[in-house]
Amino acid sequence: MEEQNPEFAAMCLAPAFDSTVPLPAFPRPGDVFAAPEAEEFPGGKGLNVARWLAVRGRRAALGGLLGEGDAGAFAAEMERTGIADRMARVPGRVRRNELFAAPGGDFKVNRPSYPWLSAADAPGALALGRLAPDGAPPPRVAVLTGSMPKAVGKGFYAEAAKRFAALGAAVALDASGDALRLGLAARPAVVKPNRAEAEGVLGFSLAADGDVVRALRLLLDSAAAVVLSDGATGCWFATRGDAGSGPFVRFMPSPRVDAVDPTGAGDTMLAEFLHRRHPAGAPDPDPGAPVSEDAMRWAVAAGAAAATTRGATPPDPALVQALFAAAGPSRPSRGA
Ligand SMILES: Nc1ncnc2c1ncn2[C@@H]1O[C@H](COP(=O)(O)OP(=O)(O)OP(=O)(O)O)[C@@H](O)[C@H]1O
Ligand SMILES: [Mg+2]
Repeated sequence: MEEQNPEFAAMCLAPAFDSTVPLPAFPRPGDVFAAPEAEEFPGGKGLNVARWLAVRGRRAALGGLLGEGDAGAFAAEMERTGIADRMARVPGRVRRNELFAAPGGDFKVNRPSYPWLSAADAPGALALGRLAPDGAPPPRVAVLTGSMPKAVGKGFYAEAAKRFAALGAAVALDASGDALRLGLAARPAVVKPNRAEAEGVLGFSLAADGDVVRALRLLLDSAAAVVLSDGATGCWFATRGDAGSGPFVRFMPSPRVDAVDPTGAGDTMLAEFLHRRHPAGAPDPDPGAPVSEDAMRWAVAAGAAAATTRGATPPDPALVQALFAAAGPSRPSRGA
């Protein structure tokens, strides 16, 4: 069982305990609140992706870096959800990220992951060695997602993408800033920026539909498929298209929900997109093949449903199903 290859391998270099701290009022200088003990929920982008794939009944493995001090809680969560544990152990504890929920608005405090690691510890190589060991059967899809400790280096996703591609896996990249820019140079099969991340890497505003279409075409120079999410409005899907047909570009509006916390919406959406694009028991698509209308509807439905739960808590599949039924149709652009 252990040696059966995972269909999906997700990398989580910066796991976090997510907790929500309810506050009775929006804080002012000097305030002291007696907050209840916050419940800590194991999260981090790679874990969020693997967890949703596991909810969908897919074989998912999680790699990355796991602080020994919290290995028990994360291992238990992987066990509970049926995710194969391929995380490399590192000294210290997992970071804590807190969302403070106050009547006047929420705010977050995110901490750096494993700041005590140094480049000499080679944490990136350690994580890659565990998730893609020599001689092990490769996953169908490798998901490289989230931020990374300083000690890992921004070029890591490019290196990991090349390794997984050489093994025959389709690589999906969800990163920002330099990690995204450098990762794109390794030509992943899929890239999933949100609007701000795409603007950051391309250097121009995506306010107008024409600008988004230009951005999608530029991103298609690097990735065969682009999933460019735009929060509550919905998501763009672009692929290189079939030979002779030219690029495929569609916008799928998101179903409306009472959003509570958009954190993790993109992770759940990416996982659902990959689940639909690489169905169990069916061959993998050509990386540049157009995206089916149903796959786009499922993806925005999963993202919208995830926005109704706090932090990394996965949404209810029944809600995703209902939102799928309400989603669509896709159209050529965001504007009417
Ligand atoms: N408030 C919302 N209402 C409805 N749908 C939403 C909302 N927020 C997100 N979604 C859905 O989820 C998708 C992904 O959201 P978003 O663009 O915020 O991703 P993201 O910024 O990558 O999120 P994260 O990285 O925190 O997981 C959107 O394309 C949309 O379909
Ligand atoms: Mg995201």
